[in-house]
Amino acid sequence: MADKGKSLKLQQWTKKDVALVITTYVINAIVFALLFVGVFVLNAVTDGKPARGALSDALAIFDFAVIMVLILAVSAVYFWFEDRDFLRRASNSQMLFLIWELGVAICFLSGKFINPYVRPIAFVAILTLFLSNTGTAIFSNFIFTTVMFTYDAFTGTFTSFESDFSIVFFLAMGLFSGIIAIYCMKELYSRLKILLVSFIISLPSLICIILPMVEFGGGQVLLNVLSGALSGPFAAAVFIILLPVFEGIFKKVTCFKLSELTDHKAKLIRKLITQAPGTFNHSIIVSNIAEACATAIGEDALLTRTCAYYHDIGKLRRPEFFKENQADGINPHNDLTPELSANIIKSHTQDGYIFALKNGIPRDIADICLQHHGTMPMLFFYDKAKKFTDGEVALSNYCYAGPKPQSKIAAIIMIADGAEAAVRSLKTRTRDSVSVAVKKIVSERMQLGQFDECELTLKEINIIIHTVINSLSGVYHDRIKYPKVSLEGLEIEEETSREENSQKD
Ligand SMILES: [Fe+2]
Ligand SMILES: [Fe+2]
Repeated sequence: MADKGKSLKLQQWTKKDVALVITTYVINAIVFALLFVGVFVLNAVTDGKPARGALSDALAIFDFAVIMVLILAVSAVYFWFEDRDFLRRASNSQMLFLIWELGVAICFLSGKFINPYVRPIAFVAILTLFLSNTGTAIFSNFIFTTVMFTYDAFTGTFTSFESDFSIVFFLAMGLFSGIIAIYCMKELYSRLKILLVSFIISLPSLICIILPMVEFGGGQVLLNVLSGALSGPFAAAVFIILLPVFEGIFKKVTCFKLSELTDHKAKLIRKLITQAPGTFNHSIIVSNIAEACATAIGEDALLTRTCAYYHDIGKLRRPEFFKENQADGINPHNDLTPELSANIIKSHTQDGYIFALKNGIPRDIADICLQHHGTMPMLFFYDKAKKFTDGEVALSNYCYAGPKPQSKIAAIIMIADGAEAAVRSLKTRTRDSVSVAVKKIVSERMQLGQFDECELTLKEINIIIHTVINSLSGVYHDRIKYPKVSLEGLEIEEETSREENSQKD
């Protein structure tokens, strides 16, 4: 979840981008305003007034329109100066307005036909949080609560209920419920936990219901308190129902989606386990290393882990051509020309990308399949080709097609992947030899400009190097010498029990 995409490299804005962002925002704002006109009319009809009655007070409608324009303008200014890249994708703007629009519809219906205090105001904050990031969620909550406050002020939702003052409590209730929801649910990856924690979201509602009643008195106390207590779980339930819909429509990668993708029962993971077990084991080790690196430099650890799980799925097309799957010792490359071998090996990045998208894997993860080798050369096959060829051998024929890593996560996977393979092939795996191998892998990639197109800093590269060394030293360690005790003669022999292929640990 959340705060993802921050590692994507910053892109220049063109006039076309600006025009597209403004057009999308204005169209969405008009649709949002029209929805409110519909809600006003419905409110009037359900109150027994003629539909025109709600729109007849031109001054009130004008006032409401002015306030709405101001609120949406504040929202536009915030995004333009604080989170411009969020709006860059037109779908993000559409997503945010759709959340607000559904919020208005659900709150209107539940408030009108059940009780105004049961309205699931906080679901807007929770849904925005899991589909974008904390900052956007806080701001989305602020905008939505203000919009609903304005609506309540114009329709007199609470004046008929308790007192004029209740509406101020409603504003506080909405703001606090959303903020509490954001900070209580930020790290929750289980729908059940979200449902349980949702009762905490009801606390501000309960306080804001009880306080004005103590002050001003009022009927329906029990019904209002019960409604307030259920507003949190109602918000959580609406969120749980709507999240998969938003994930599907806007192709968003949430923590729930990532948890599903890293489940060993997931379709492509099952295929890796059965058809390319060596690649699966390699991917697991790479995922552990990459996750540690992501945590160390403040990137999204779960997204990084998932990317590592899927980075080599392109090998499923011809698993036997990759060393880690040649358990029977048969190497089909012995019968191929170096050029053909190189083509087969390098095609696993493109195959992985296509395979991932065909199987509904989110684009952010599919991109890693394409980028994890960058434009690195395959020197083994290049050297082999030079031995068998009299003339010049073009190095470009023996390089991966790229592109180079475009994000910090792609760079982390590239380093973890290369380092794991290099350390696995070492005969002696002491901490020093692991350290030398990892530094060599990173320095080769830096010299070949593989990190030039992502935002990775030198400081972060150093942190990654140390994290990879620590992780790999833990995975590929030489085992201690166990004394072998003979029960008969109490003879003690020393035995070296280092396993040949410790990557199978
Ligand atoms: Fe690969
Ligand atoms: Fe790999």
